[in-house]
Amino acid sequence: MAKIAVIVGSTREGSFNRALGSLAIKALEAQGAIVADVDLATFDLPLYSAALEAEAFPADAQRLKQLFAAQDGLLFVSPEYNGSVSPLLKNAIDWASRPTGEESLVALSAYRGKAAAIMSASISPFGGLRGLMHLRQILATIQMLVIPEQVLVPNAHAAFDEDGALKEALPATLIGMTAARLVKVAGAIAA
Ligand code: FNR
Repeated sequence: MAKIAVIVGSTREGSFNRALGSLAIKALEAQGAIVADVDLATFDLPLYSAALEAEAFPADAQRLKQLFAAQDGLLFVSPEYNGSVSPLLKNAIDWASRPTGEESLVALSAYRGKAAAIMSASISPFGGLRGLMHLRQILATIQMLVIPEQVLVPNAHAAFDEDGALKEALPATLIGMTAARLVKVAGAIAA
């Protein structure tokens, strides 16, 4: 069974990306995945600095990296900030990309060769498309295999009903398709 972590790039109360992440978790579990819900609010991650890294690698950065390393695939759900991913998410990705122990600079042991999928909810009519283009490129840079399916939820402030379900059928269908492909690819790579 594929092990997948879901990482939401917003800790805002009432976050639309958290709502989308919750739907993605259900869809992954429906596909038989063992899901780890990564709440970045529970990780004490300072802004990356080389000096900090050299002095004392933060314990929570190590914990996050180990959590990622234990997965077969990662699903990132990020808001779009000024056309890119949220700094919260980028900082988490950056810390977990750093070598630890005897690893080489390019070990990328939390990421290399694993499957990834991406989703975004945005209050704009474009649904965070520019942010996902950056996120796809970032994940390719850290040697992840990003599946072609992705999910955009535009007009996010009006997209969810009071039970947290999506009102429109199309993004809801895409969540299921994306979850199915991610579980399939992650499982095949791990086999
Ligand atoms: C935004 N937002 C935003 N939205 C968008 O579609 N494109 C963008 O470039 C930006 N830029 C941006 C910059 C900054 C600094 C903030 C704080 C916000 C709006 C963003 O989509 C909105 O706040 C979402 O609600 C954030 O996601 P969560 O927190 O609801 O998950």
